[in-house]
Amino acid sequence: MSTVTSETLHSQAYFDDPFGVWEQLRHEQPLFYDSIDDRWLLTRYDDVTAVFRDHAVYSAKPYERIFTDVIGPTMVQMDGKDHDVRRSIVAPVMVGRTLEQNYQPLIDTVVAGLLRPLPATGEVDLIGSVTSPLPLKVVATMLGMPESYDAYLHEVAAEVIAALAGVEPAKSAGRDKHTEFAQQIDALITDRLATPTSDLISGIAHGRSESGEQLSRDEIASFISLLLVAGGETSDRALANFWYVLMTEPEVMAAVRADHSLLGAAFSEFMRRDGVVVYEDRELTAEVQWHGQVIPAGAIVRVALMSANNDETVFANPRTFDLGRADLNLGPEKRAGGIRDGVANHVGFGLGKHFCIGYHLARAEVISATAALLDRYPALAFLPGQQPRMQVDWFHRHLDHLRVAVSSSPAPSR
Ligand code: HEM
Repeated sequence: MSTVTSETLHSQAYFDDPFGVWEQLRHEQPLFYDSIDDRWLLTRYDDVTAVFRDHAVYSAKPYERIFTDVIGPTMVQMDGKDHDVRRSIVAPVMVGRTLEQNYQPLIDTVVAGLLRPLPATGEVDLIGSVTSPLPLKVVATMLGMPESYDAYLHEVAAEVIAALAGVEPAKSAGRDKHTEFAQQIDALITDRLATPTSDLISGIAHGRSESGEQLSRDEIASFISLLLVAGGETSDRALANFWYVLMTEPEVMAAVRADHSLLGAAFSEFMRRDGVVVYEDRELTAEVQWHGQVIPAGAIVRVALMSANNDETVFANPRTFDLGRADLNLGPEKRAGGIRDGVANHVGFGLGKHFCIGYHLARAEVISATAALLDRYPALAFLPGQQPRMQVDWFHRHLDHLRVAVSSSPAPSR
C-alpha cells in the first residue's frame, strides 16, 4: 500500500471510499499534515475526543470565518462563557422533555403530510419529496411559521449555505438573504415577546441564562438562520444516508421493519458506521504536541469524526453494521461522549461544549420518518442500474440521488 499524501486526501478515489485511507492513517500517520488545506489531521478516536474536550486550547474560531459575514455571530464559533451563556438560553427548548412533549406529534404530522402525496407504486425521489423538505418544514413548524413560509425558508437556507463557501457573488447574496429574513421574522419576535406561545421563537425570545442574560433580536435571527443551515442539510443527508444503508443491509431492514423499537439502535449504529459529518476544524490557542510533532499556536487541527467512529481499537469490525453491537452506546447520544466500561459513544454529533444541539431532533425525525416509510411501503428497491453513489463531498458524506422503486404490496419472496 502506498503512503498517504495530501493528494490522496483530495483524490476521487478517497471521496468514493475514504475508510481504507483513514485506517492507514490511524496506523501509520495518526497526525497527518494536509499541505493542500494547511490542516493537521487527527484520525484516532482517542485523539479526536481529546481535542473535542479541550476547549481552551482548541477554539471553535474557524467557524467565525465561515459564518460571521453571512449570518452574524452565533454560538457555533464562540468559546468559553460567550458560548455557554448563549447555549444555555436556547438548549432547554431544543432537547429533552420539551422536544418530546411539544414537538414529537408535530414531527409525526409533518412526516405524514410529506408521505401522503407519494404514489402507492412506482418511482419516488425520496430526497426531493421527503428528506430535503422534512427538516426545514419541522423547524418552520416548531418556530410557529405559517406554511406559506416553506418555499421561502428553502430559498433562505439554500442561499445562506451557498454563501458559506465565501465566494462572491454568492457570499453577498446569502448575506442579503439573511438580512431580509431577519427583517421578516422581527415581526414574529415582537409578537411572541408580547404574547408567548409554545413555539420555538417564544422559547428562544423568552429564554434566559442562569444569570438572566437574553439573546438580542439580531442574535435570535442569527440563531434561527444557524438552525436552518446546521439542521437542514445535515438531517436531510442523515435521513437519506440512513435509508440507503437500510436498503443495502437487507437483514437490518427486515429487523427494523418487523420491530420499529429497533430503529433507535439502528440510528446509533448508522451514526457510528456512516453518519454525515466527516470533519470539524479547531484553531490552536497554544502550541501543542501530537505524536512527537510540535504544532504551533494559530494552526488548524482537523478532527476526522468518521474515522474516529471506525477506529478498530474501539469498535470491533467497524465496517460491519451490527444492531446488537456491545461496544457502542446504542441509546440516545450523550454530550459528554467517550468510553465507559467498554461501551463507547460515537462522535457523529461531536462531543463536549459544541455537541450538536439538534441531536435529539435529528434522531426523532429519522425514527419517525423511517417508521412511516416502512409502514407505507412493504417493498423498497433501487431502480435497476441506478444504484445511488455515496461520496465524501468535503465536510459531508452523502448520496448523488435516492430515486427508488416503491410498492404498497410486499416484495415477492424468492
Ligand atoms: C443527523 C443530523 C445532524 C448531524 C450529523 C449534526 C452534526 C453536528 C456536529 C458534528 C456538530 C458539532 C460541531 C462542532 O463541534 O464544531 C453540530 C453542532 C450543531 N448542530 Fe448539528 N447535526 C445534525 C442535526 C442538527 C439539527 C436538526 C439542528 C437544529 C435544528 C442542529 C443544530 C446544530 C447547532 C446549532 C450546532 C452548534 C452547537 C454549539 O455550537 O454549541 N444540528 N451538529
